[in-house]
This record gives sequence, C-alpha cells and structure tokens, in this order.
Amino acid sequence: MTALTRRALAATSLAALAAPRLARAQGGAQGSTQGSFPSRPVTMVIPFAPGGPTDIVGRLLAEAMAKDMGQPVVVENSTGAGGTIGAQRVATARPDGYTVLLHHIGMGVIPTMYRRLAYDPVNGFEPLGLVTEVPMTLVTRKDMPANNLAELVAYMKSQGDRFNLADAGIGSSSALCGALFANAIGARPTIIPFRGTGPAMQEILGGRVDLLCDQTTQTTEYIRGGNVKVFATPSRTRIATLPEIPTTAEGGLPDFVVTVWHGLYAPKGTPAPVCARLTASLQAALRDPRIVQRFSEIGTAPVSQADATPEAHQRFWTADIAKWKPVIEATSAYAD
Ligand code: MLT
Repeated sequence: MTALTRRALAATSLAALAAPRLARAQGGAQGSTQGSFPSRPVTMVIPFAPGGPTDIVGRLLAEAMAKDMGQPVVVENSTGAGGTIGAQRVATARPDGYTVLLHHIGMGVIPTMYRRLAYDPVNGFEPLGLVTEVPMTLVTRKDMPANNLAELVAYMKSQGDRFNLADAGIGSSSALCGALFANAIGARPTIIPFRGTGPAMQEILGGRVDLLCDQTTQTTEYIRGGNVKVFATPSRTRIATLPEIPTTAEGGLPDFVVTVWHGLYAPKGTPAPVCARLTASLQAALRDPRIVQRFSEIGTAPVSQADATPEAHQRFWTADIAKWKPVIEATSAYAD
C-alpha cells in the first residue's frame, strides 16, 4: 500500500466517523426509514477487475458516499462474463440498500447481447442515478509500427488474426468498442478477453497485446506518460484534457462513436426511502470537490444533479437499450 493510499484510507475513516450526525440531519426531513439507513456498511459491487476504469470511478464514489452516509462503503470486485457476474450478484441480493451496483454502458447492451441470463437485466434493478460519461481511446503497445489511425488500420488488416485485441469480455465497453472498430475497418483480430481492462492494460504495457479500446479514466495517465501509443478517440469531439488526440471522424470513421456512461443501481424492490437516501448520497458525492477534481484529471466529470436521479437514469438507460439493440442485432454480436 502506498503512502498516498494509506493517507486516503485514513482520511476516509476519519470522515466516516465524523459524518453520521450530519448525514442523519440531512436525511431527517425525508422520513424515518431513510433517517436510519444505513446503520452498517454498504457493499458497492464493481463488475470488473480492480485497478480498471470502473474500479477507479467506483472507489472515488464509494469514498465520497461513505463520507456522506457516515458508514463505510466497501468495494467488492465481482468479476467475469463481461460484467454479468457482478450484475447478477446485485440483482439477486437482498433488496435492503446494503448492496449496490456501479455499472456502465454494459447495462445498455447486455439485455440484447445475452439471450440467456440467470437474472433480469432490465427489471432486476432500481436505477438510483447516473454518475459520469467517459470518452474512450484506442491505445496500443508502445512499439506499434504505425503512427496514425490510417497506418494502424492498414497494419491491423495486413496482420489478420495475428493482430490481437484485448477486451473485458462480451458486454464490456472495451469489447463493444473493439468490435465496432474491427467491423468499421473490416479487420478480424484475435480477441483476448480479461476480467477487466485493468489487467488488459498490463498486457498492453508489457507489449504482449496489440490494441485496447479503453476509457480515459484509466488511459489518461499512460497516454501522458508515453507508456502506450494513442490513435484516436471514438467521440464526436476531441477530449478537453487530451486535445491532441484526433477523433475517429477526423480519421475517416465518422460512424464509429462510443462513449461510456455509468450509473448506480440497487436490487429491484429496495424500499423507496432507502433508494432516496442512496440517491441523495450519490448526489452529495458528485458535488464533492475531490470527485470533481479527480474526475477532471482523468477526462470525465460528474453528471448534473438532475441526471443523478432515478428518473433521468431510467430514461437514459431505456433509450440506450433501444439505441444498441439494432446495432447488436445487425452484427449478431450475441454472447451465446
Ligand atoms: C473495467 O473497469 O475493467 C472496464 O470498464 C471494462 C470495460 O467495460 O471494458
């Protein structure tokens, strides 16, 4: 554990001890159940590996929510199967607010990609609020013999299945982004799945894997450090914090656009006052100056307070499922 991590943990614990009275005072106006929740630690399930982009956002959020609620928020990385193992863990948990899920765009694609699941990917959750929207970047091992997107495309196609592409399994944002890229250029790389892009990035850094499409919340540091080569962002506009990276449209692929949204969920049937307390805590966390600053350093920002609500989250999530359904059906990108 680094000195920085130790200091962060100590600060979290002190904040957690100091916060209960404040949290109860804020929650009091909204009913007695909400006022007494939470009375013990809350588990935040992250459906991808430690160290990756969801984990980075989740741990910042957990720390800030703990400060607001006056109880620890313990991160549990429940990984595998493109994020469906962790989602199932929460969909089937006791609906009492003590188990929540931080998930991303996977919640929009999994309902179509997975035709057989042991949980209901649409009706198994109470959306609590959106969290962030994060741009993606196409990064490769540092010694990739290409210097712009056109050269990368040519190299990828010349290599056929000798070229490999890391992702976090079908249902993950890296898999979606990688598949859209390969389809857009007509390449057939070998896919190497990991339990998250945290471990996938280690293989890119080690030069053992060629390409990864990943979120700026993880890639910013490696791009700035010159540890990877970056070719494009599949966003409509350049990224404010990494303005030197061209968009895929600038590189001739205007239809290849994917950004990653995150939301917080409780199991379906969690009592409304408990959900309301969790949403209030999410909103407080997203106002926390440490979150605002750290998010901006890694290429993202908290959503507005209006979007950090169950209603906005439900609307956005429903629209995202509808948006991806025809894309997935057209490419038969099913998990089974
Ligand atoms: C992760 O946290 O590992 C990523 O978000 C996985 C992905 O969706 O690519």
